[in-house]
Amino acid sequence: MKVRIIGVPMDLGADRRGVDMGPSAIRYAHLQQRLEENGIIVEDGGNIEVPNPESRKIKDEKLKYLHEIVESSERTADAVSGAIEDGFKPLVLGGDHSIALGSVTGVSRVLKKIGLIWIDAHGDFNTQDTTPSGNIHGMILAASLGLGHEALTNVGGFSPKVLPENTVLIGVRSIDRDEKRLIRESGINVFTMNDIDQCGMRNVMKKAIKLAGGGTAGVHLSFDMDVLDPMVAPGVGTPVRGGITYREAALAMEMLAESGIIRSLEFVEVNPILDRGNETAKVAVGLIASALGEEIL
Ligand code: ARG
Ligand code: MN
Ligand code: MN
Ligand code: MN
Repeated sequence: MKVRIIGVPMDLGADRRGVDMGPSAIRYAHLQQRLEENGIIVEDGGNIEVPNPESRKIKDEKLKYLHEIVESSERTADAVSGAIEDGFKPLVLGGDHSIALGSVTGVSRVLKKIGLIWIDAHGDFNTQDTTPSGNIHGMILAASLGLGHEALTNVGGFSPKVLPENTVLIGVRSIDRDEKRLIRESGINVFTMNDIDQCGMRNVMKKAIKLAGGGTAGVHLSFDMDVLDPMVAPGVGTPVRGGITYREAALAMEMLAESGIIRSLEFVEVNPILDRGNETAKVAVGLIASALGEEIL
């Protein structure tokens, strides 16, 4: 297997500094070495260029940094498409979750019909009409399905990037009031924390793999580190109590690796400023290794 690392030091979508250092923190936690030990050929493609919030006069706008995020997304999409075309599996490191717009666009453009597995404490299903914060990282799953601001949905020049029946949202426990309605109306597949508690991660993932992998050319995994319990992953900008354990996350990754459906993946929302001893980045590296086929024995 050949993997190309693509860093996206983006914090504009969360409007919070620190998460832009996520790619460095994950690299510093020995990502490349760990993957190479597992026999993977790793190429580090460096970082996508992302503007700093300080370099810009804050305009009064409903969707914060819309223009900058759209431009960075196009660059990320090109890097992700390019990696797949060059025979690599793109591994995108965030950065806040707004970077998923670029990755999803890049994979969808090459594979045409993709599945999307979005693992997150949040729905990321707001639009300009429902967002309580104006932060674009809370809108990207909706945008991938063609819902929301046209500047977001039109990234890559096509929309939607994925169909609701091939989209699976897993681990949610914090959804805004109007966002709830949008998710229900959308027709995407959702497994909440309650579903994980009731049925177990193993059964949830079995269903998720069928839904996202069935009849698609491949699946993009978008993993928001805040799905983990804050005791496991303290270094995230929007922590929510009651998250999944390390083993539940690892099991999900191991099942995805075994299924063979994953064509590209990303890990987002690591914020080293809020972290303790780079623990969240280390957790991310363990999960990435599992998702890329590391076996215990
Ligand atoms: N729902 C909230 C919002 O729209 C929080 C979103 C958090 N998203 C994330 N990717 N961490 O602002
Ligand atoms: Mn920056
Ligand atoms: Mn998210
Ligand atoms: Mn989240």
